[in-house]
Amino acid sequence: MEFSQVLLLSLALLGFLWWKISRPKSFPPGPLALPIIGNLLQINFSNPLKDIKEFSKVYGPVYSLQLGFVPAVVVRGIKDLKEVLVTRGNEFADRPQNRLTKLLSGTRGLIASPYGRGWKEHRRFTLSTLRNFGLGKNSMEERISEESVHLIQYMKQNKDNLVDPHFVIDNAVSNIICSIVFGRRYDYDDSTFRDILNLVHENMKMASSFWAQLYNAFGFVHYLPLPHRRIIRNVDVVFGFLERILEEHKRTRTPGVSRDYIDCYLEELDKEQEVENGKKVFDHENLFTCVSDLFVAGTESTSSSLEWGLLYMMAFPDIQEKCLKEIDKIHGDRGRLNYEDRVYMPYTQAFLHEVQRYSSIVPLGVLHGTTKDVQLNGFTIPKGTTIITDLSSLHFDETYWKYPNEFNPENFLSEDGELLKQESFLPFSAGPRSCLGENLARMEIFLFFTALLTHFEVHWPDPKSTPDLTPVFGISQAPKRYKMRLVPRR
Ligand code: HEM
Repeated sequence: MEFSQVLLLSLALLGFLWWKISRPKSFPPGPLALPIIGNLLQINFSNPLKDIKEFSKVYGPVYSLQLGFVPAVVVRGIKDLKEVLVTRGNEFADRPQNRLTKLLSGTRGLIASPYGRGWKEHRRFTLSTLRNFGLGKNSMEERISEESVHLIQYMKQNKDNLVDPHFVIDNAVSNIICSIVFGRRYDYDDSTFRDILNLVHENMKMASSFWAQLYNAFGFVHYLPLPHRRIIRNVDVVFGFLERILEEHKRTRTPGVSRDYIDCYLEELDKEQEVENGKKVFDHENLFTCVSDLFVAGTESTSSSLEWGLLYMMAFPDIQEKCLKEIDKIHGDRGRLNYEDRVYMPYTQAFLHEVQRYSSIVPLGVLHGTTKDVQLNGFTIPKGTTIITDLSSLHFDETYWKYPNEFNPENFLSEDGELLKQESFLPFSAGPRSCLGENLARMEIFLFFTALLTHFEVHWPDPKSTPDLTPVFGISQAPKRYKMRLVPRR
């Protein structure tokens, strides 16, 4: 090939790449994107929140990033997030169908499912099934209180040693969703289950890493021996575990008798079904994805919230003192606190809200997508664009909070000590795609937390250091692993 031909070809290729990454007309502005990689190298993926905030100082609350060939719009602040999540929620209620979400959650089920009949029907079915399990003798509250007994027993057995609460809390929290979805709990010394939970954690962390973004942006990366391969291996093991549970249910079920969520879904499959795009709305693939979505989403963020709660108790002993006083006042000599008791416990509730605010457990929410061409803040965003909802931006907004940058339950209390409802606070997001497990998570956090503090004070074991409050970034932010000293109270 002659030099002039090579030059022409290179220019054409550069032109094509430039066209691929250049922003469409009226698209939100953003930092200059390089050919092929876009802005990937301008973001520190081990904790992108700082970069995301810095860019918004230059480009405003609605701006764009180029993640490889994929354009994404970042939305920050209560005015624009409310518009996107609630006011025009349906226009932003899709999920981008990229390689990573397909790998982690397929294209069906609850979390990654595109906006449409399939997702709506599954969300409705899941919410009503969870509600049904919340009623009656074996209610949610009873399940959580029974699991608290196991948790306290474990802590009592280990009170003379320093306890790393990570695994046992993870296991206890996961047992609640497992009991609803699979109809069983796992003992805290079950090493197979422990391994599965560890793989889920690893993936939640790796799914937001640079390697995962690279895998997402470029198809050929799939075949390279890079760290994203670990995500694929982990998914295989976790899916294998869930498939065995599903097979066992299909083998052992009695039609007409629903032991758990899986049985309720199998009952649904027995019924005459409606069809969408030539496919049945309820099918085995959707069942598998719903089970996997509930298992993963129902464990990670709730257990991280509890681990943060215990860490803040140790970091701020005066706050612990106030929570203990309030718990003792309401508890009296009763066996345990009920969920209803929270109404009389504004300080403890303010503390638990402050944990959600300050740690912003799911800081960037879950990616949304536009369902049609939309206008936002004077910009045009085409159908199918990825939307990053920066929920953490709400939680540190200096115009809304009394103490935006310090951990202080007073952020949620009036002068008279009453619990305040704060507008700039959306840890579970809002609108049609908001967290499906919000009520369950709130109940678990309150009941597990108060059960632990009814029985123990928690102390930082090393007088020469203080707790490290730096989060480990991931889809959900967990604290670094730590150990605590337990002092029995009763
Ligand atoms: C403290 C605990 C939790 C936090 C902070 C949290 C937060 C979130 C957030 C921010 C989203 C994204 C919403 C959006 O896209 O706008 C979400 C989605 C979701 N969460 Fe949670 N979550 C928690 C616990 C749970 C639990 C216990 C379950 C299980 C029942 C659950 C199930 C889900 C599901 C299924 C979705 C996807 C909803 C959809 O796309 O329609 N979450 N969660």
